[in-house]
Amino acid sequence: MSKLVYVLNGPNLNMLGKREPGIYGGKTLDEIGADCIAAGEVLGLAIDFRQSNHEGNLVDWIQEAGAKAKGIVINPGAYGHTSIALHDAIRSVAPLPVAEVHLSNIHAREEFRHKTMIAPVATGMICGFGPLGYTLALQALAARI
Ligand code: DQA
Repeated sequence: MSKLVYVLNGPNLNMLGKREPGIYGGKTLDEIGADCIAAGEVLGLAIDFRQSNHEGNLVDWIQEAGAKAKGIVINPGAYGHTSIALHDAIRSVAPLPVAEVHLSNIHAREEFRHKTMIAPVATGMICGFGPLGYTLALQALAARI
């Protein structure tokens, strides 16, 4: 039976495809979701792919994943740099494996993007590989669960 993994996306990621394509590439979030579902089929993972612009929704979904899923991939968008609420939510579902993903290399960008509130409580973090980062994160989780 497939293992359920939540793939959560934070603010402004619904704009992918139109938003700063020089940084984030031309793929839409729907296309990334389809890639995740295809990768999940190979890896034996059932993917629940979601996006919200609202921090509280992401907190609710992390808590829900704690009860229902075997792991989380999260691209927290800008909330990754600021959100103690997301940090605490991930701690609250420990030891659920969590992979943080950023499309861009946040360490090669503005200084305010260098810090992530998620990485210290995530199992691991992948950034800079564009949409491939989601597939890499699913592979990493599949090896753990
Ligand atoms: C991002 C990086 C963040 O700094 C930014 O706020 C985003 C996207 C990425 O995927 O590269 O919204 O998470």
